[in-house]
Amino acid sequence: MEKTEIIKKTSEYVKSKQLGETTGHDWWHTYRVWELAKKIGEIEKVDLFIVELAALLHDLDDWKFSDNEDCSAKPAEVLMDFGVKMDIINQVCEIIKTLSFKGAGVDSSMKTIEGKVVQDADRLDALGAIGIARAFATGAARGRMIYNADVPLAQTSDNFLVKDSVSTLHHFYDKIFLLKDLMNTETAKMMAKERQDYMEQFVKKFIDEWESK
Ligand code: NI
Repeated sequence: MEKTEIIKKTSEYVKSKQLGETTGHDWWHTYRVWELAKKIGEIEKVDLFIVELAALLHDLDDWKFSDNEDCSAKPAEVLMDFGVKMDIINQVCEIIKTLSFKGAGVDSSMKTIEGKVVQDADRLDALGAIGIARAFATGAARGRMIYNADVPLAQTSDNFLVKDSVSTLHHFYDKIFLLKDLMNTETAKMMAKERQDYMEQFVKKFIDEWESK
């Protein structure tokens, strides 16, 4: 199968699996990460085939790694079905594995430029107008208030992986605003800054309205 055909088939497969998801890892998140990864990847001169496959498969299923060091789980299965070579599959799986593993204190730094690009794309989707929408959707799913004016709005934890922010607006400071400094590529750093500026304007307006200004 041609590379373009493999990408097309992979995207169709992932879309069929993820379309109904509402937990923030739905098909349209995957689609945006795929588009961002292509855009950044073209500028950073990477192997786009690996970048696109990793972006498309990065949130597929419950991709747990404890027993799957050999990448025998879903993404690898899908790519094997499409006749992708083992060395490509291993590179794609390595990226997905590093991206997905979020245990406390675990090093999530990417070894390859392809991995760095996909990680940047995934993090960028938590920022900007989309980031605001996703944060409130996720916050509601986790039972968070939109905001709690009794707690000062600043970073409330040193832990990047804080799970229990006081409110979604606090979550911006606990986690989302830290992403900008974690971007790997120059392209993503610039995009992250622009998207965060927008979110900071949103917070300012939000607080103004909260205080009836
Ligand atoms: Ni993702």
